Amino acid sequence: MSLYFGDISPAPPDPVFNITTRYNNDKNSYKVNLGVGAYRDENGQPWVLPVVREIEEMMSQDHSLNHEYLPIEGLQSFRESATRLMLGNECRAIVEDRVRSIQCLSGTGSIRLGAAFLKRFHPDSAIYVAKPTWGNHRNIFKNEFFPESMIKEYPYFDSATRGLNLEGMINALKEAPERSIIVLHACAHNPTGVDPNREQWEAIADVIKERNLMPLFDSAYQGFASGDLNEDAWSVRYFVSLGMEMLIAQSFAKNFGLYNERAGNLIVVAKNSSDAAAVLSHLKALARPMWSNPPNHGARIVATALNNEDLRAHWFRNLQKMANRIRAMRELLLEKLRALGTPGTWTHIVNQIGMFSFTGLTVRQCEVMTSNHSIYLLPNGRINICGLNHDNIDHVAKAIDDVVRNIED
Ligand SMILES: Cc1ncc(COP(=O)(O)O)c(C=O)c1O
Repeated sequence: MSLYFGDISPAPPDPVFNITTRYNNDKNSYKVNLGVGAYRDENGQPWVLPVVREIEEMMSQDHSLNHEYLPIEGLQSFRESATRLMLGNECRAIVEDRVRSIQCLSGTGSIRLGAAFLKRFHPDSAIYVAKPTWGNHRNIFKNEFFPESMIKEYPYFDSATRGLNLEGMINALKEAPERSIIVLHACAHNPTGVDPNREQWEAIADVIKERNLMPLFDSAYQGFASGDLNEDAWSVRYFVSLGMEMLIAQSFAKNFGLYNERAGNLIVVAKNSSDAAAVLSHLKALARPMWSNPPNHGARIVATALNNEDLRAHWFRNLQKMANRIRAMRELLLEKLRALGTPGTWTHIVNQIGMFSFTGLTVRQCEVMTSNHSIYLLPNGRINICGLNHDNIDHVAKAIDDVVRNIED
């Protein structure tokens, strides 16, 4: 008779990772996985960036490297170069010494540590996430014991236009209690692929500043979205230029293809140097009993690439290759749907940004994509564009055409 483990019923599987399990169990040779949040090359394979291979080869020859613990706050060269990559070399807040950062376990760990900090110092703040948003946002705050009633949504996606619901978003922010935390996607919004343009970001920033709200930026796709690192950081840099306090969670999973190395950085932008230092000291105090100190390998790769001109240029080329392939697949999918005469407008596929497309397929249509065509995608209609290639795109386009014509809303 168990005293401790007997009465526990299993937790539900993670919806995203479970798609891959179901895909792996599917025996059909024409199956396609559009569910995972990772880049795939033209052959449907994971891609180790050539710059990463090059650096790993250099590392294997460098016998001065060791496996000592990093400091609690992580690898200094990584934290500093990652922070500059995000905020830009000209950033006034850096010059004024009011920025600090701590290396975390990729983007998820960065947001989680930020949430732990907020729970400790601002337990009464409401947390606003986009509707819809990346599934983990809500979970992270829930698991830091923010009550469900405090985790609120702001309208984001307008299903009629398949674009941004700016008015809805602004109105919700205007009504948010002061000191609420607003979780924003820096670029390549997941799952919708819809980003505000500059003018819209300015309007969003105005309300956030005026209402004394605090942005928590989630930057998981810098450079990966447009192929341009500065363009993809514009929103964050704009908010920083307005003098706001904020947290920025940075991930190098996608833009370096370092998914399992968990290289992330949580940046704090404060009003002055002593505030920034105090916040960092508490972030360290929170990290120590959580993971104690972060892993080195991914951070070392990123720092090496960012701090060497040639390697940095090599990385840009790798990034552009990924961004260009994604764009080409978006265009090809649109072309195929047009050729099939699939009912509806599909231009959103090329207008959306980043890895994902929010197709507009209904839950039922998504189910039939999987049951009849062995195409795996999220029930909200999100597909990973990287899962497409020249071998499977006809099958995917025909399946979309089939469900749109034959499966009622
Ligand atoms: C919007 C968003 N934020 C954060 C992450 C964090 O990913 P990781 O923890 O692998 O860096 C992801 C990954 O899919 C994401 O899509």
